[in-house]
Amino acid sequence: MAVNICRILMGAVLVFSGTVKIIDPRGTEYKIQDYAAALGFSNDLPTYMPLALGVALALLEFSLGIYLMFGIRRKWTSRIVLLMMLLFTPWSLYLAITNPVHDCGCFGDAIQLTNWQTFGKNIVLLTVALILWKWHHLGKRLISQHSQWLVALYSWLFGFLLAGYTIYTLPIIDFRPYHIGADLAEQMAWKEDGTVPPISDLMILDTETGQDLTDSIIATPGWKFLLIAPRLEVADDGVMDRLAELTDYCKRNHYLLICLTGSDHDGIMNWCDITGAEYPFCQADETALKTAIRSNPGLILLNGSIIEGKWASSQLPGYKELNAPVEELKWAHQKQETMRQHVIALFSLYVIPLLLLTLLDFIWSLYRKNKNTIHKPLKTNKMRKHIVAGNWKMNKNLQEGVALATELKEMLAAEKPNCDVIIGTPFIHLATVSDLLKDSVIAVSAENCANKASGAYTGEVSAEMVKSTGAEYVILGHSERREYYNETPEILKEKVDLALANGLKVIFCIGESLEQREANEQEAVCKAELAGSVFHLTAEQWKNIVIAYEPIWAIGTGKTATAEQAEEIHAYIRSCVADVYGKEVADETSILYGGSCKGSNAPELFGKEDIDGGLIGGASLKAADFKAIIDAWK
Ligand code: PGA
Repeated sequence: MAVNICRILMGAVLVFSGTVKIIDPRGTEYKIQDYAAALGFSNDLPTYMPLALGVALALLEFSLGIYLMFGIRRKWTSRIVLLMMLLFTPWSLYLAITNPVHDCGCFGDAIQLTNWQTFGKNIVLLTVALILWKWHHLGKRLISQHSQWLVALYSWLFGFLLAGYTIYTLPIIDFRPYHIGADLAEQMAWKEDGTVPPISDLMILDTETGQDLTDSIIATPGWKFLLIAPRLEVADDGVMDRLAELTDYCKRNHYLLICLTGSDHDGIMNWCDITGAEYPFCQADETALKTAIRSNPGLILLNGSIIEGKWASSQLPGYKELNAPVEELKWAHQKQETMRQHVIALFSLYVIPLLLLTLLDFIWSLYRKNKNTIHKPLKTNKMRKHIVAGNWKMNKNLQEGVALATELKEMLAAEKPNCDVIIGTPFIHLATVSDLLKDSVIAVSAENCANKASGAYTGEVSAEMVKSTGAEYVILGHSERREYYNETPEILKEKVDLALANGLKVIFCIGESLEQREANEQEAVCKAELAGSVFHLTAEQWKNIVIAYEPIWAIGTGKTATAEQAEEIHAYIRSCVADVYGKEVADETSILYGGSCKGSNAPELFGKEDIDGGLIGGASLKAADFKAIIDAWK
């Protein structure tokens, strides 16, 4: 629960900060430039770098937020988020102490934090990131592993296209005091109580005399076009034709057209030379101009002191649009209302498909889960054996083993089990225990046998020897044997063949590791393990095979796969058997679950359609515990 709250919190913060950056990549670019300048390496950065970094950061934050919310690639996402926080937290402390830039820019212009507030926020987020990293596997998935790539891809793509669109045009949501409809005079007015107004750094100066023209330009009534070019040296000069047309239009209609720039006299002269500009220039602070419009150059239309419209250089009107006085030009009057509708429409493009996808995925998962129960006639369930098998592993000396087997025998004699019961013992117990259990309901299994028939293999025990003790089964392919004794699929194949040839039945174990599960490879792993060692058998031989699915991460760890997880893969394993031997044989194959199975969770696990019992390690070492699992079939 706490992990999921953290996941949603962190996800929401990342989606929010990613979104405000995506809708205003230029803002992040400027912020990065500010940082670079404050730290003294702005000259070393290639010009495209701040924008590229800004977009990359925005996309990373947005996508990680979505990954967290949907529970996609939980392990890697939590690692990257933690790494980010480990980098950002000391960085924000450094910024708070040295204060090279006033607002860190983590939430763009939407929420402005001081550097100390940012540091505090990062401490909280770092704690959350640590929790997520430690318990990432407890995070709930909103989307199945089959469909998560779609959400991921769609989020990256949407973020990328939206960032591209806003770079080409203007931020789709304007958080600055220069938004459409804003009254500049009002935004610049100092309150009586001395509070700093939203715009406090815009001062328009005459280029020649340095005289302050702010009031005379802003406060005079009428239509005014402000061409804003923070730095003419890097402004887009491809728009000079459009600017010439605009100049003519303003002359014809007696509107003021003035260019505000942060460049000096030389910069202005150079621009005039290149573009043939005939409009007047005034100087203003470069940062203030960058705040006013995210384009260089950009155009602002004022009616008196109210902002009527804003256009990026890519959107400047041409002579076709400039065909009537401003009052009659519909496109020149941008309404906040319509802008809002655009934003809603644009986000619907992301949110609605995503919701639909999640819903479809949910329905599909439900269908998959119930597929077998819905379509299979009930009798198929009765056709295969229910089995509870113990696997003592390397536990119990002979006397202890005999005592345990005796206790169990007596228990089951008193109360008949509703399933087949097998105990897997070390070799040393086999003969004695088999003899002891001869007349009982309990069958005996070895835990291994050699991959050679007989001969000079010191210390090995052949399938034939196992059979001669009276044992009926052998467990093969257990992950502990695969891992610690390097048993390969080929070796296991030889063992399976020898076991069957000697009249033993095989409990064949398969299952994935934690990494493989997290990489969503469990199905591929199980299929490959079956294909590597048992799918070569004939249908007749197959009758003597019991499959035990044992996720390695659940063995002896106390972590059980949930009944749903287990059922999902059991159904898959059965479908693999059906592919090779046909549905009828698959319906008769017993597939056991193994991995921290106990009396408390066995009923739920065994209640699933495709789970036909369990292979029990730890809980088979005490008669009462083992009996509780057997009782799950009652
Ligand atoms: P466990 O072992 O029940 O102790 O997890 C199962 C097994 O390895 O067979």
